[in-house]
Amino acid sequence: MSDQRSSPAATTQDEISHPVFAVLYDLCPEPAEVEAQRAYLARDLSGRVLELGCGTGGMFPFVVDGATGDLEYHAIEPDPHMRKRAAEAARETGLDVDLRDARAESLPYPDGSFDVVFAGVVFCTVQDPDAALEEVVRVLKPGGEFRFLEHVHADGWRGTGQELLDPLWKRGAGGCHLTRETVARFVAHDALGVEEVDRLDVGVFPASPIVRGTLRRRRNGVLG
Ligand SMILES: C[S@@+](CC[C@H](N)C(=O)[O-])C[C@H]1O[C@@H](n2cnc3c(N)ncnc32)[C@H](O)[C@@H]1O
Repeated sequence: MSDQRSSPAATTQDEISHPVFAVLYDLCPEPAEVEAQRAYLARDLSGRVLELGCGTGGMFPFVVDGATGDLEYHAIEPDPHMRKRAAEAARETGLDVDLRDARAESLPYPDGSFDVVFAGVVFCTVQDPDAALEEVVRVLKPGGEFRFLEHVHADGWRGTGQELLDPLWKRGAGGCHLTRETVARFVAHDALGVEEVDRLDVGVFPASPIVRGTLRRRRNGVLG
């Protein structure tokens, strides 16, 4: 893996504040294919659900559409500029969100407290992805789902291009890393079983390929 597990590039103590990125994030039109993937993350939602790094609230309309039963929706976002926009998006969409200033590496929730946790293009940006994944496992109920949509390190010349671009990209794209082996990290976790993982033909270089999937928190080491 090209990203080092024991020494994250930025630390969990560094301030997360990207005012320009927050404005640009909302201004950039999203391709229709990405919208379909947001609908995947938000499908059939009920119970206690947690969204990691909700950004400007881009998932909220999809969550409203995807809710199928009683939904208690929680979201965390550490960047104040993103969080302010997310709060506005919640009001506009009418979604009742418990939105908190927190990081994925240190979730302010008890063990086994969520039916679903999801992350949409977040593990590229968190400062310590291993710590964040441990927190996902901790807060999921046994049998609960971890859903994700993430861009990962590409193969071949695209991968080499990402390695060259990465230092510049991180500065311009709110701390996003291009070369993380995010999905390999997810599927290797002993407490998570793979329900589905799909490499998608969407996304634009250098933030591609994009992989989506659903993992299930094992019950006493067993899936289901
Ligand atoms: C590329 S944006 C994705 C935003 C949103 N998930 C979406 O679907 O549009 C990455 C987000 O992760 C947030 N982030 C950065 N570090 C984080 C951390 N340690 N824990 C949780 N979120 C973090 C950023 O502030 C940003 O809002």
